[in-house]
Amino acid sequence: MKAVRVGLLGCGTVGGGVVKLMRRNAAMLAARLGARLELAAVADRSLKPDPSLGLYAELITRDAQALVTRPDIDVVVELFGGLEPAQSLILKALAAGKDVVTANKALLAERGDVIFKAAVKSGRFIGFEASVGGGIPIIRTLREALAADRQRAVYGIVNGTCNYILSTMAENGSEFADVLAAAQRSGLAEADPTLDVGGHDAAHKLALLVTLAFGVALRPSQVHTEGITRITLQDIAYAREFGFTVKLLAIAKHEDGAIEARVHPTMVPSRHLLASVNGAYNAIYIQGEALGSTMYFGLGAGEMPTATAVVADILEIARMRLAGATEASDHALGYPYSAIKPAKVKPMDRIACEYYLRFMAEDKPGVLGRIASVLGRHKISIASMIQQERAPQVPVVMRTHESQERDLRRALAEIHRRKIVKTEPVFIRIEERL
Ligand code: HSE
Repeated sequence: MKAVRVGLLGCGTVGGGVVKLMRRNAAMLAARLGARLELAAVADRSLKPDPSLGLYAELITRDAQALVTRPDIDVVVELFGGLEPAQSLILKALAAGKDVVTANKALLAERGDVIFKAAVKSGRFIGFEASVGGGIPIIRTLREALAADRQRAVYGIVNGTCNYILSTMAENGSEFADVLAAAQRSGLAEADPTLDVGGHDAAHKLALLVTLAFGVALRPSQVHTEGITRITLQDIAYAREFGFTVKLLAIAKHEDGAIEARVHPTMVPSRHLLASVNGAYNAIYIQGEALGSTMYFGLGAGEMPTATAVVADILEIARMRLAGATEASDHALGYPYSAIKPAKVKPMDRIACEYYLRFMAEDKPGVLGRIASVLGRHKISIASMIQQERAPQVPVVMRTHESQERDLRRALAEIHRRKIVKTEPVFIRIEERL
């Protein structure tokens, strides 16, 4: 039986899962492929041999640079994460004729131009199913299964840390900082959670989804990105009264040739499927012109879920190699790389949606009138309002009709500047018509 040989860069959580899955399902994978998938080498700084997993001492190396050019390796799996040395190693592997599998969303989103171009140049393939949604097969779905349709919009819950924090806040009535601290203690959140709670990880993933869904290139810096650090229990509770649930959504829409791409806390109707995605789960909700809406749900991180995506990519590449193709087809992003042009991005000022607003105001006659009059002058129409408490300072909470972001920002800036309210007004965007 022929063999396809795999070199692994990094054997942490996901790498460990890959080793386990390749061993546990070796016979099934060989049956699917008509060839054996063999682990040829693992580069990791601190890995100890574990013969029960097939991790024999002779497979383990500290020399990643040497691994990526070894003639007996066909596929290099990059699981180091981060920009360097991952980028140099991938480029070196491609130049040496290896196909590459990676889970590195940050690298592909930031340096995709370099990496995909290099893959085309060397006629090799980049598999990156694990980079978005972990075990959820969303890359292949957009690239293959939905390829006949024109996508209109993508709404993703693509950061498990944020989704865990927001749903735990809502469920337990705990504030953001307390839930984050508990999640860090239990290992659910990173020691440095900035990439996750700041929305940047979701922005990286959205940039990749935009290319797959709409065939255009988008840099993460072009995604309007807000994290969840300012979400309070109070806003979650008012959202519930209005019939909404707060989620960190990665949103991309394609309209009139322009792309709207944003990551921010969003209120979605509590009866919507996305509102029921809780804990560390991810989901991607896609609206296609011909198909209508579909949703893909599952674990977006973790050892075995993410490993299934990595090993499926290895399998796909192994099939291409065994079919005898001297070059991999240039379809990793769903379009030939040269056909992917920079996205025309709609400025954030020009988006329109409904808004949730919270003002902290003095409870005295005329304050509400002054707020409403500034909003009215800026063409912001109020749909409903809550003001229940009686205290020197009360939250005045509103839901607007669809408004332009530019008008809303101008109105809030004026309310703040004229000191009509005590603290900076809070606004959260609503996606009502998903
Ligand atoms: N840190 C990510 C998350 C998982 O919290 O979803 C890896 O993409």
